[in-house]
Amino acid sequence: MIKQLPLNAELITDSLTTKMLGRTLFCLDVIDSTNDEARRIGLEAVDGTVITCEQQTAGRGRLGRSWVSPWGKGIWLTVILKPVLPVSVIPLLTQVAAAAVSLAVENILGPENEQHGVQIKWPNDILLNNRKIGGILTEMQLRGDRVQYAALGIGLNIHSDGEDFPDELKDKAGSLYMLTGKTYSREIMIAEILNELEPLYEEWTRNGALGRALSICRQKSAVIGRPVALSGPGGVQEGLVLGLGTDGELILRLKDGREQSVISGEISLAVVPDNVINR
Ligand code: BTN
Repeated sequence: MIKQLPLNAELITDSLTTKMLGRTLFCLDVIDSTNDEARRIGLEAVDGTVITCEQQTAGRGRLGRSWVSPWGKGIWLTVILKPVLPVSVIPLLTQVAAAAVSLAVENILGPENEQHGVQIKWPNDILLNNRKIGGILTEMQLRGDRVQYAALGIGLNIHSDGEDFPDELKDKAGSLYMLTGKTYSREIMIAEILNELEPLYEEWTRNGALGRALSICRQKSAVIGRPVALSGPGGVQEGLVLGLGTDGELILRLKDGREQSVISGEISLAVVPDNVINR
C-alpha cells in the first residue's frame, strides 16, 4: 500500500515553466468535481487558473459516466481557459490536452516509455499498455454565442490499485503504478502537463489550427489503421480509421467503401473481420 501525501502546492509552482497556466492554483481536498468548482468560479477566475484536488466525490467523465477519483491517488484537475475562439472549435481543446498529457506522461516515464508506449484513443483517452489511464472532459460556459470560459478537466490515474476500479472497468482501466510498478510525483506530473499544454494551447489559439497538437495526436494514435466500431448520434458504424483530418476529425472508411469524417463519438477497437473492410 503506497502512503498517499497531500499535494505540495509550492512544489507544483516551483516546477512550472509556464507564463499563464497554473499561476493561480487552488489545491483543494475533497470536492464534488473540479469541473463543478470551475463552474462556480469560472466567471471571476483569471485565465489559466488551475483547480486540483485530492479526491472527487462526483468526478465526471464523458457521456455522463462517472470518473473514479480516490484520495491522493491521481491527478484530478481543471484548467479554466478564456480563449477568444468560436464555440464550434472549443471541443478541439480536448485533443490539444490529449497531446499535452501524453507528452507529460512520456517525460515522466523517461527511457522506460520505450517499454510501455503512451497512446491517444481518439478523442480523449490516454492509454498505457492498451489500458486507459487518463481522460479529458472539456466543458464550456456560453453567453449568447460567446465563450465565457472553457473548463478543461483532466484525470490521470497515478497510484490507483486494481480494487479502486469497479468490475466493469477492471480489464480496461489502469494507473501508472499498476502498469509500471513504480510511484511518481503527482506535483511534477501536474507541472509537466501544464508546461506541455501551454505552448500547444497558445499555438492553437494564435493560429486557429491544431498544429503540433495534431501531429502528436496522429503520431500517438491508438486507432489509425485499425478497424473500429464508432457509436455516435447516428448509431454504430464500423470501419477502418484512415487518419485524423486537419480539424481533428476522425476519417473512417466504412464497410461499403465510403469515406466519412466524424467529429464526435465513442470508439471501440472492435475486432472486425478483415474481409469486411477494404484497406
Ligand atoms: C473521460 O475519459 O470520460 C473524461 C474523464 C475526465 C475526468 C476529469 S478528473 C478532473 C475533472 N473533473 C471531473 O469531474 N472530470 C474531469
